[in-house]
Amino acid sequence: MARKHILTAGPAVMPEPVLERLAAAVRDYKGRGQSVLELSHRSADFVEIHARARDGIASLLGLSDDYVVLFLQGGASTQFAMLPMSFLPEGGVADYALTGAWSMKARKEAERYGRVKVACTGAEEGFRQIPGRLEQSGDAVYLHYTSNNTIYGTEWSAAPESEAPLICDASSDILSRPIDMARHAVVYGGAQKNLGPSGVTLVIMRRDWSERVVRELPTMLDYRTHIAKDSAFNTPPTFGIYAIALVCEWLAEQGGLSAMAKRNERKARRLYELIDGHELYRGHAALDSRSLMNVTFRVGDEGAEKRFLAEASELGFVGLKGHRSVGGCRASIYNALPDESVTALCDFMSDFAARN
Ligand SMILES: Cc1ncc(COP(=O)(O)O)c(C=O)c1O
Repeated sequence: MARKHILTAGPAVMPEPVLERLAAAVRDYKGRGQSVLELSHRSADFVEIHARARDGIASLLGLSDDYVVLFLQGGASTQFAMLPMSFLPEGGVADYALTGAWSMKARKEAERYGRVKVACTGAEEGFRQIPGRLEQSGDAVYLHYTSNNTIYGTEWSAAPESEAPLICDASSDILSRPIDMARHAVVYGGAQKNLGPSGVTLVIMRRDWSERVVRELPTMLDYRTHIAKDSAFNTPPTFGIYAIALVCEWLAEQGGLSAMAKRNERKARRLYELIDGHELYRGHAALDSRSLMNVTFRVGDEGAEKRFLAEASELGFVGLKGHRSVGGCRASIYNALPDESVTALCDFMSDFAARN
């Protein structure tokens, strides 16, 4: 069957060459007579795979030795709790930039452990915009922000200015562009958008932060456990880590993150220009806050939108329906989405607009 145009928000599109390498390795890893799925996490082969994934991330982001790369489980949602549990003391304060549902969820977890100051919120405007100004506490342990808001299609164009160290949920734009890591204590994300299959959570942490843990923690929820054992204290998600290694190698072949950023800008610009060029389409996000990863828009009235989604589905576009809390449509155009899929979507949208 012909491959579809995968516009899902996550789990999301994977680079085709990576899918091919994964498929081959599922059958037989390096002629070992053994699938990659069957490798022990203590085997030399897997130790090498892990190093490729870890070093791949470090090299793409230009990480210094001050940072550790961890592959954990539990999704970004577990990080919402693990971070304040580890670093926010009772009576201490953390600043949270509220730019969408995921930052609200992160804030809720932090409130269990200490005080939270809302540094900004876009709730009243339906999270259409990244707020321009932050109100910070002065004594905050950290400022938490969500670099890309998957549901609303908004994205910080650069990390916010902050006196406090930054903690970033980069689940939906990690590795889509370079990050100024020196300004961040922690960057984390679920793998299932730009990195690989669901089931792996990437956490990049400044080493000295792991020494700042403020309370007694269960072993598995203590970053120090995973740092000491190089993410293999218990059985890690081996297949997902292998996929991340391959995705990193694919990204390096594409020219790394600066090249990716340019390509992502080009892909997104084509779609936004099309949306702005037809009365039928209305972008959801404010112009200065538009995401390069998730393009959210409405199509005419309810009837037109339904027809649009039905026709799109017939033509092989998958995952265009917007998140239930926003409605409308959302095209998730992560790193791995080929230019040809953007061209096909633009052609379909122009044609649909001409007919409606
Ligand atoms: C920005 C952002 N943060 C957090 C999450 C939650 O991630 P997980 O499902 O890995 O817990 C998502 C999921 O879509 C997301 O888009």
